[in-house]
Amino acid sequence: EKKHKVTIVGSGNWGSTIAKIVAENTKQHNDLFEEDVQMWVYEEDVVIGKDSKYYDASAGDKPQKLTSVINHHHENVKYLPGITLPSNIIANPSLVEAVKNSSILIFNLPHQFIANVCKQVGGHILPFARGISCIKGVNVTDDGVSLFSEWIGDGLNIYCGALSGANIASEIAAEKWSETTIAYDPPPMDNSRNPSPRDGSPNPGITVTDLQALSHKDCRGRTSKTKLTALPAEYPPLDHDCFRALFHRHYFHVQMVSDVAGVSLGGALKNIVALAAGFVDGRGWGDNAKAAIMRIGLMEMVKFGKEFFGETVQSQTFTETSAGVADLITSSSGGRNFRCAKKAVEQGISVDEVEQKELNGQKLQGTTTAFEVNSFLKARGLEKEYPLFTAVNDILLGNKDVNDIPNLVATVTDGA
Ligand code: NAD
Ligand code: 13P
Repeated sequence: EKKHKVTIVGSGNWGSTIAKIVAENTKQHNDLFEEDVQMWVYEEDVVIGKDSKYYDASAGDKPQKLTSVINHHHENVKYLPGITLPSNIIANPSLVEAVKNSSILIFNLPHQFIANVCKQVGGHILPFARGISCIKGVNVTDDGVSLFSEWIGDGLNIYCGALSGANIASEIAAEKWSETTIAYDPPPMDNSRNPSPRDGSPNPGITVTDLQALSHKDCRGRTSKTKLTALPAEYPPLDHDCFRALFHRHYFHVQMVSDVAGVSLGGALKNIVALAAGFVDGRGWGDNAKAAIMRIGLMEMVKFGKEFFGETVQSQTFTETSAGVADLITSSSGGRNFRCAKKAVEQGISVDEVEQKELNGQKLQGTTTAFEVNSFLKARGLEKEYPLFTAVNDILLGNKDVNDIPNLVATVTDGA
């Protein structure tokens, strides 16, 4: 009987919070998972100042490696300060070492860095590993738009689901109650769909000797080019129950669904809307204006999903799950995209400048997503069909002003 080894790829504000959740659960469910959780850390030097409880007079102001600070003090002092991490989280600066022999890979880093990360881990993971992407963003190339869950899966030849929700990391790290949505829909032949063998009976699923290429449908209903390798029978099935055991906490309630496209798109597109909410709030227009932005934004999110992932996406994922409307609301109330956009308008500076000044290395996803989605829409002559997404990009580029928003989205409000 083997247990699943888990690696978190990424250790930022959300990466460290998810690592905390997962490490608490691997300890609790140590019949399913190895207790130690690897967390890949993009290594950097940190200075532990005099005002920190970890200040060491003998080291003084000498920079220290973030990984050794995390492993020594069990706190990510840079990206999740003030939160004690479980001691079974092992911070690892080597990506290749961190993913070695792990059957569950959780991708949790700003979307601009994922390409480079996948390039490095390719060929170093278990062929039957499965992934969960916690990344909120979409991958736009000349060929079109794709989901990071699929892009990671195709790049690494594994199946990858998605986790997204109304999940401001600092609240969850402080164990304040929230919900999340996990979309996981592997092909039906996958061993993960078969009953657990942990009752002592032989696993009726695929055995190691049967390892074979499994074909499956992608989020546009096409046969995926990725040929999956089945999970060996001696592992506990990687099914919805297993992922619920890995992520559900009393303060972090998990809803499992199958709509990977809806969950991924909800998390990515709401970041554009949250910027718009910040713009109008910064302008001093109040809650009515913000609600109007959220309403129009939600319509554009659903439209985008239906138009480009219509074969699998479900409108209810946007309107009923934590990954949809709930994330839109929380992000437009207190997310970083919202806060930085608001400050940018109040101070008359760019959102990028606020990000640099205020976030201490944390990264906004909305600014790049607005640009990427716009280049995708522009290439197809569809900018006018998505007036709010287009307005946000134009404001970020300085081509339009916040005062223009009501007129820019007027076709939507007038036509409704
Ligand atoms: P973050 O904003 O804290 O980003 C900083 C991270 O990026 C750090 O771990 C840093 O080491 C890393 N980094 C910097 N340069 C790098 C490089 N060149 N290569 C690789 N890594 C580098 O990150 P986060 O908040 O953990 O966000 C990860 C994902 O989770 C994003 O897609 C975000 O939208 C999503 N998310 C964030 C929150 C939140 O509240 N923070 C909540 C839900 C989802
Ligand atoms: P920000 O990246 O804007 O902070 O959003 C966090 C988030 O995704 C909350 O669900």
